[in-house]
Amino acid sequence: MRRRGTRRRSVHTRITTATLLSLAVAACAGGDAVSDRVVRAADAAALPGSPEALPSHAPARFGFGSGASDARVAMWDIDVRPDGAGLPPGSGTVAEGRVVYNSHCIACHGPTGTEGPNDRLVDPVMWDDVPDTRTIGNYWPYATTLYDYIRKAMPQLTPGILTHDQVYAVIAYLLWMNEIVPEDAVMDAETLPEVQMPARDRFVVDDREGGTGPVR
Ligand code: HEC
Repeated sequence: MRRRGTRRRSVHTRITTATLLSLAVAACAGGDAVSDRVVRAADAAALPGSPEALPSHAPARFGFGSGASDARVAMWDIDVRPDGAGLPPGSGTVAEGRVVYNSHCIACHGPTGTEGPNDRLVDPVMWDDVPDTRTIGNYWPYATTLYDYIRKAMPQLTPGILTHDQVYAVIAYLLWMNEIVPEDAVMDAETLPEVQMPARDRFVVDDREGGTGPVR
């Protein structure tokens, strides 16, 4: 079995090399008709699903994978939208969030969310024209995006380890540190979408005209 597998691979390698050589020779000779034919043959061989692409011994299907079940799709379907659609059940307080933050976030974002070494998360001071810092407090337009982002991406080295309650809690703590919610705030699927972010109105539709214009 093993030897047969090896032989097949080497035949395949020879074909590929031969095709490449033909292309190179045709190109060097400047023979347009020849090179056209070679290119067309190479294209046909590369087309997925085209009969030429399949060596004669290949099965119609390889039998890899399986249909995606609803449960599997649900594991990936975890986006949270600005209006809060997609937020899971659960809740967390500022006090609980302090514990989550100090265990899972402090090493990279600093004791008060300002020291780093990675992104600064806290700055309650709003900017006028151009922001000096871009943080949750003075740049993020939607609080719900915190859920979407933290659940998928943080803690950076071990994303996915936080429970729903822990994500809500650490969001409550971050919003409190940014002076957006009071210390007794509880975050859940109802309260989080209601949080008005200070920078919400700083984002406008770019309707400038002329030049190359915005890319849509
Ligand atoms: C190992 C280091 C590390 C840990 C631990 C970590 N983060 Fe991060 N965090 C980062 C890095 C790096 C970025 C920037 C990622 C990027 O720009 O792609 C980031 C970005 C962020 C941002 C986006 C900042 C912005 O305004 O763009 C948030 C919010 C955040 N982290 C929250 C958290 C929370 C909450 C925790 C704890 C549950 C945590 N992080 C733990 C390294 C870390």
